Amino acid sequence: MSKLVLSPISRPLEGIIEVPGDKSISHRAVIFGALAEGTTKVTHFLDGEDCMRTVRAFQNMGVPIFREGDSLVIEGKGISALKEPNEPLYFGNSGTTSRLMIGLLAGLPFFTTAWGDPSLSNRPMDRVVLPLKEMGAVIDGRGQGSYLPLSIRGTKLQGIDYTLPVKSAQVKSAVLFAGLLAEGTTTVREKTQTRNHTENMLKAFRADITTDGNTTTITNKNELQATDIYVPGDISSAAFFLAAAAIVPDSRITLKNVGLNPTRTGILDVLNKMGAEIEISNQEEVGGELIGDLTVAYTALRAVEIQGDIIPRLIDEIPVIALLATQAEGTTVIRDAEELRVKETDRIAAVADVLSSFGADIEATEDGMIIKGKSQLSGSAVSAYNDHRIAMMSAVASLIADGEVTIDDDSSIAISYPGFFDDLKKVMN
Ligand code: S3P
Repeated sequence: MSKLVLSPISRPLEGIIEVPGDKSISHRAVIFGALAEGTTKVTHFLDGEDCMRTVRAFQNMGVPIFREGDSLVIEGKGISALKEPNEPLYFGNSGTTSRLMIGLLAGLPFFTTAWGDPSLSNRPMDRVVLPLKEMGAVIDGRGQGSYLPLSIRGTKLQGIDYTLPVKSAQVKSAVLFAGLLAEGTTTVREKTQTRNHTENMLKAFRADITTDGNTTTITNKNELQATDIYVPGDISSAAFFLAAAAIVPDSRITLKNVGLNPTRTGILDVLNKMGAEIEISNQEEVGGELIGDLTVAYTALRAVEIQGDIIPRLIDEIPVIALLATQAEGTTVIRDAEELRVKETDRIAAVADVLSSFGADIEATEDGMIIKGKSQLSGSAVSAYNDHRIAMMSAVASLIADGEVTIDDDSSIAISYPGFFDDLKKVMN
């Protein structure tokens, strides 16, 4: 537990930073590297706590994974070489590790148990367990497998044709992972497209997978082949600096090599609509993922309405978008974001609580929030709710508060952005 006291700044933010690797892509690189035949070298891997849970799970199943210079090296020997772990797998705070690994473990020929921290133990797992059971999975746990801890007796699975009832890339990925091990064909259909890193990376590892609009089909026909992966900077981490530059007067920040996969760039669309100018340069495609540099400068912001298909494209950025809305003229309304209620914490309640402590005019609704701007934020003591994105949003808010901000515990930031304060210092000098 480490309490943090922050003072407002009096100078603009300026500089160039490279945010750490994308969390979603880092998890997937470890998983596919571990299932593949051959050596996979992952550069710009995010060694935050969540991704390390995925690394340790595979180390417990006998896969050699180690650091070599700046890279993470995974010596995959194929799916059949994975061994039954002789201890329960601990997934910590990581929803992505849990959902993705459960999909995979359901189809492996051995027994596992999985558990997590108190926050993860309250997050719904039935969204993956139910489709997996339809495929023949043998999973049990609290509430018939609705919550961790879970026990998974791996078995032969059957392909499925599944339409996602929730807008969740984790659920889509869990079913696709099970499909990679199942007899026959597995098809996953989504009404609203969610992040597609699983599909992109499965193609790079030469799986038998096809995508047609929002429908993905996979079989167990191909062995995965190792391939080197470069992990783009995480746009969800970049979002805190995009927001900081947009709200601290006269600031200008450049973020290098940020992932610009269109399923993730909703924050850029929102900033544009709010009136911020974002310059995108040096765009290129690396391993099926678009990357580029982003430059954002301070601007007078205006309110926006955010709802519908854009929501999955910015779901993790909503806490910091809410902060932006406190600095925008007019009423910002966010709808269709009920998924926020089941993140690391109930992010609708947490954001409303924290921003109103700072003096913002914000009202929580069932599936979003209503924020009236522009407000002068005041210094306050807030709780980060043990949630990395609430902690970083509060730290960015402190830059424009008119007094000291105290955050009860900033240790959760290590989940996704271990060097957050070092990068913040770089642009404060
Ligand atoms: C993720 C998907 C999203 C996102 C999470 C990472 C992933 O969750 O919020 O941080 O890597 O697939 P949902 O699939 O639950 O929406």
